[in-house]
Amino acid sequence: MLSRIIYVSTAVGPVTTAVTGTILRSAQAHNPANGITGVLCQGRGLYLQVLEGERNQVEALYARIALDKRHHKVVLHQQESISRRRYGKWAMAHVDMGQLSDEEAAHPQQTAFDPYTATAEEVMAKIDALIAAGMVMHAPVI
Ligand SMILES: Cc1cc2nc3c(=O)[nH]c(=O)nc-3n(C[C@H](O)[C@H](O)[C@H](O)COP(=O)(O)O)c2cc1C
Repeated sequence: MLSRIIYVSTAVGPVTTAVTGTILRSAQAHNPANGITGVLCQGRGLYLQVLEGERNQVEALYARIALDKRHHKVVLHQQESISRRRYGKWAMAHVDMGQLSDEEAAHPQQTAFDPYTATAEEVMAKIDALIAAGMVMHAPVI
């Protein structure tokens, strides 16, 4: 059965290209063999990740990631059965959510996106908007 997990977390220390590169290399090394696809959004000191795949594989990976010392305050947003993958072509796309949109910059109080308080639907809409806006930095295909 296919399953999807969405979680948000806070980076421990500054999120450097080196740290993110190491994480993405792990994802590329393991995810295709484990049938995992998804998106890793990173920016503003936060991670927001969508993991898709067979339920046992997704749960095993999430359990491993949750123990990773490179982030903390790992909060599960959504875990549900899905009929098909949303990000099926990507072993783990890297999406930059570090930039504030013009709208957010102009009205930070009103429109700032907080992945911790957003609903799962808002999170997915945000990710799709970032992808549509060309914020995908690296997207290794499966
Ligand atoms: C935010 C974040 C996202 C991660 N995403 C993945 C992933 O998609 N796939 C994966 O195998 N490891 C991922 N990792 C790394 C795992 O926690 C773990 O370190 C790694 O899988 C161990 O394998 P390695 O020793 O071969 O690197 C992630 C870690 C962090 C902090």
